[in-house]
Amino acid sequence: MAFPKNLFVLVFLIIDSLSFNAWAKVDMTMADSVEVYLDDSADIPCQYVFSEQPRAVMIQWFVRNPGSSNRERIYYGDDTQQIVDNGTDFMGRITVSDIGDKMGVLLTIQDVQLSDEREFFCQVNGMAAGNGEGKTHLRVFDPPEAPIIEGVLAGISVTNELPSKIASCEARNGFPKPNITWYRDSNPLNPTHGKINVVTLVTWESSGFYSVQSDLQYKVSKEDKDALFSCEVSYYVPGAARTAESKGINITVHYPTAVVKLWMESPQALVKEGDTVELRCQGDGNPPPPYTFNREQEPETTLEARDGKLVLKEVTRGDSGVYQCRSLDLDTYEEVMGDMQLNVHYLDPAVVVPKDSEVMFKGESLTATCNALSSLETATVWFKDRQRVGTGHVLLLQDATYSTAGEYVCEVTVPSLPGLHTSGSVHIIVQGAPQMKDSDREVEMEQGLGKWVNLSCEAHAHPLPSISWSFSGSQSWREVLTRANEHNIISLVSVKVTSDVTALCNATNEMGTETKSFSIRAIPMVTSTAPYLPAEGNGVIIVVIILCILLLAILGSVLYFLHKKGKIPCGRSGKQEITKENANKDEIVVEMKTDTKTEDTVLLKGVNGDKNGPSNQ
Ligand SMILES: *[C@@H]1O[C@H](CO)[C@@H](O)[C@H](O)[C@H]1NC(C)=O
Ligand SMILES: *[C@@H]1O[C@H](CO)[C@@H](O)[C@H](O)[C@H]1NC(C)=O
Ligand SMILES: *[C@@H]1O[C@H](CO)[C@@H](O)[C@H](O)[C@H]1NC(C)=O
Ligand SMILES: *[C@@H]1O[C@H](CO)[C@@H](O)[C@H](O)[C@H]1NC(C)=O
Ligand SMILES: *[C@@H]1O[C@H](CO)[C@@H](O)[C@H](O)[C@H]1NC(C)=O
Repeated sequence: MAFPKNLFVLVFLIIDSLSFNAWAKVDMTMADSVEVYLDDSADIPCQYVFSEQPRAVMIQWFVRNPGSSNRERIYYGDDTQQIVDNGTDFMGRITVSDIGDKMGVLLTIQDVQLSDEREFFCQVNGMAAGNGEGKTHLRVFDPPEAPIIEGVLAGISVTNELPSKIASCEARNGFPKPNITWYRDSNPLNPTHGKINVVTLVTWESSGFYSVQSDLQYKVSKEDKDALFSCEVSYYVPGAARTAESKGINITVHYPTAVVKLWMESPQALVKEGDTVELRCQGDGNPPPPYTFNREQEPETTLEARDGKLVLKEVTRGDSGVYQCRSLDLDTYEEVMGDMQLNVHYLDPAVVVPKDSEVMFKGESLTATCNALSSLETATVWFKDRQRVGTGHVLLLQDATYSTAGEYVCEVTVPSLPGLHTSGSVHIIVQGAPQMKDSDREVEMEQGLGKWVNLSCEAHAHPLPSISWSFSGSQSWREVLTRANEHNIISLVSVKVTSDVTALCNATNEMGTETKSFSIRAIPMVTSTAPYLPAEGNGVIIVVIILCILLLAILGSVLYFLHKKGKIPCGRSGKQEITKENANKDEIVVEMKTDTKTEDTVLLKGVNGDKNGPSNQ
C-alpha cells in the first residue's frame, strides 16, 4: 500500500460551536470521516481552541448509529478522572490521549470492527469559557473475496426473443457493499432495454459483510460464440477504489444452419472403381443438425450415414453422380442442402486384336491393337520379353522373322490416375521353313583318326521341324542328345572318325527343309616318332626291359653259383690262382664282367624298390 492503512482523513470541516457568550467561544476541528481497514486501529483526532482560557475542560465522546438519534457515551474525562463507560461496544478497546502541543485529544479505537462504522462525537466543555462539539464518521473497509463467475452450460439460442441468463457472478464478504460490472471481451456491458439485463442480489450476511450476486441476462447473437464474458467486482478501500476481475468464460451459442457444404474427404485424388469414398457434410449451424444423404436421382432414398459422413465402399462407375446432403434445423424447420458431383473413374480390361495367338508367315506384316475403355485418357506401351517395343494402342509388326515370334504384352495405364492399369497380350507365331541357327551352313573340321567327334544341329521353325542326319565315310554314329521346345530343335550326334566324314543335317517341316553340312578331315593317329609314344606304351617297355634285366641277373647268379660250387676243392689256392692269373688279359675281362653283374644286381634292387613303392601306395 502506498498510503497509511490505518487512518485516512478525507475532508476537514471546521465546526463552530454555539457559544453561550459572545466573548467566550471554542473552535472545534474534526475530520469529516476517518477510513480504516477492519481489524486495524483507528485514530480520531478532536482539536479545539478556546477564545478564553478555561479553568477546567471536560471531554466526552459519544457514538451514534447513522440514521438514529440516540447517542451513547463511551468516554468521560476531566482534570481529575478519565472514564471509559462500562457496558458499551468500546469497553476495553478505546483510549483517549492528548495531541502533542496542540489543544486536543485523540480517540484511538483498537481492533476496529464492522459495527464501528458510526459517527463519533467529541464534546468539549470549558464551562464559562464555552463549549463545543464536533463529529467524525468512522468508515470501515474490508475487500470482498475474488469474484466467481459461472456460465450457463446449456446452449443459448439466438432465436430467443428475450435476453436469457448466460452467466452469474458472485463477490462474497465485502464491506461496504461492492459493485459488480459485466464485460464482454473487455468492453463493459451496460444494461440496455431488451438486450442486456443485470439482476443483482445483495445479501447482508449476519457477520455484517455484504455478498453480491449478479446475473447477466443477454440476448445472444452468433458472434457471441467466440466472445469471452467476465465480471469485475469494484470496491473501496481506505483512500482508493479497487477492482478485481473474474476469469473469462465462453458460452455455447445455438444458431440455425444457413449453409450446408458437402465435399469429398477421401480419397484426396481422383476416384477409381474399387475405392472407398468418404463424403463429408457440414453446415454452419450449432449444434450441428442431423444430416441426411441422398443421390440427386433418388431424392426419396436416404443413404445410410453417420455423423455427417457418408462412406461408399468399393465404388463403381454406377456410383457416379450428384450427391446431396440436407439438414433440417430443429428451431426454424428450415431445410438447407449442399451437393457435389462424384466421378468414379474406370479402366476396363484391355482387348487385344488379334486375340490370344496369331500365326504369321515369314515376311508377312500384321497390325495388332490394344484397347481399354476408360473414363480418362490412357497410355499404351507394348512389351516383348520385358523390352519396350512400341507405344500407342496400335502395334505394327512388319516383315516377320522368327525373332518376331513371341508374346506381345500391351500395358494400358491412366497417367492422371496411377492406380488404374490393365494389360493384354497376343502370342505371335511365325510359320516358315526351318532356319538353322548358325548362318554358316558348311562346317569344316579336323579330327584324329578313330576318335569321336560331336556334331550339333539347331534349327528354328514353326511348325517344329524334325532333324535327320546322313553320313558318308562313317557308319559309326549315334545321337547323344535331342531337345526341342516350341519352335526350336537341337540334335547332337557323336560320330567316329574312321576316315574323312561328310555329315548332313536336315531340318524339315511342311514348309521346307534346311540342310547343314559338316566335313571332317581325318588326321592319321600314330607315327614312328618317339615323342608320339603314348604314356601307356612307355610303361610297358620299361616293364619288359626290367623283366629282361631281372632274368639276366638270375641267370648270371645261377651261373656264378654253379661255377663256385665246381671250384670248392681248390680252396683259397684256387682263388689265389685266379688272382695270380690276373696278368692274363682275357680272364681279367671275365672278372670285370662279374663285377659288372654285381653292380647290376644292386641297381636292380633299387629299381625294384622304386617299383614297390608306388604299388604299396
Ligand atoms: C461494569 O458493569 C458490570 C455490570 O454491568 C460490573 O460488574 C462491573 O464491575 C462494572 N465495571 C466497572 C469498572 O464499573
Ligand atoms: C457502486 O455503484 C454505485 C451506483 O452506481 C456507485 O455510487 C458506487 O460508487 C459504486 N461503488 C463502487 C465501489 O464502485
Ligand atoms: C471457448 O469455447 C471453445 C469451444 O467452444 C473452447 O475451445 C475454448 O477453450 C473456450 N475458451 C475458454 C476460455 O473457455
Ligand atoms: C560329345 O557329347 C557328349 C554328350 O554331351 C559328351 O559326353 C562328350 O564328351 C562329347 N565328346 C566330345 C569329343 O566333345
Ligand atoms: C536331306 O535333304 C537333301 C536335300 O533336300 C536330300 O537330298 C537328302 O536326301 C536329305 N537327307 C536326309 C537324311 O533326309
